[in-house]
Amino acid sequence: MMSNLDTIERMSHEQVRQRVAELGPWFHNIDLNGVRTAPEHFLGDYPAVKWRRFADRIPADLGGKSVLDIGCNAGFYSIEMKRRGAARVLGIDFDERYLAQARLATDVCGVDVEFRNLSVYDVGALGERFDIVLFLGVLYHLRHPLLALDLIHEHVAGDLLVLQSMQRGSEAIDPLQDDYDFWEADMFESSGFPRMHFVEHKYADDWTNWWIPNHACIEAMVRSAGFDILEHPEQEVFICRRGAPPYGAGSVYPARGDSR
Ligand SMILES: C[S@@+](CC[C@H](N)C(=O)[O-])C[C@H]1O[C@@H](n2cnc3c(N)ncnc32)[C@H](O)[C@@H]1O
Repeated sequence: MMSNLDTIERMSHEQVRQRVAELGPWFHNIDLNGVRTAPEHFLGDYPAVKWRRFADRIPADLGGKSVLDIGCNAGFYSIEMKRRGAARVLGIDFDERYLAQARLATDVCGVDVEFRNLSVYDVGALGERFDIVLFLGVLYHLRHPLLALDLIHEHVAGDLLVLQSMQRGSEAIDPLQDDYDFWEADMFESSGFPRMHFVEHKYADDWTNWWIPNHACIEAMVRSAGFDILEHPEQEVFICRRGAPPYGAGSVYPARGDSR
């Protein structure tokens, strides 16, 4: 019987071009046997330009490792993980159009990635932890970003979390005390205090941009969800390790008791 890969191997340049056009528009620009999926991307050759800025901070050999790519889109990062030898890569996204693109991309590239239609809010259903969780370009698209981080910590993060988020506002990080007097409020006026900017309507012509944090806010949220920040290789990217959530956090399902 002819396998899917046999079929793909025999897809001509023209057939790939046609399939790419049928499944568009694409957010990921991927080279599929000479067919570029998003050559006019407003961010350039995206996400390759972003990936180049932190690729060297992720182990070059992922042999034996499992990877969960949350909000995988057309699978650019899933493919890169597989090319580094990851034993298992699972890409999840809640948009079936993107998953169709991802399946075509991995088939044409000849890499074995599993894709599932799943929201980040449902990662508990996976019942599995992963050595590396990629959470790239998704946080600011969520109405409930801290809930997503808590769920990732509680259910799927096994070791490393690679997080990328759009940020707006100050790059400064104010040194903060653990507590303040009720009448003390000056710190809230400072641009280096953790802040989330709520987008009621649209930002960048995109109604799925809901919450855009400043730098201090990203770091504080990540720590609050129980991750230690190991590296910050570029403005939007944080390489983190799963740790224990600080006291008072991690109450996503308090009925389960204190798992700290
Ligand atoms: C800006 S794209 C980022 C894609 C890719 N991770 C990257 O960094 O290039 C955001 C992706 O997250 C997906 N997404 C948004 N909300 C989601 C949710 N609640 N659960 C799963 N995926 C989601 C979108 O469908 C889209 O594919």
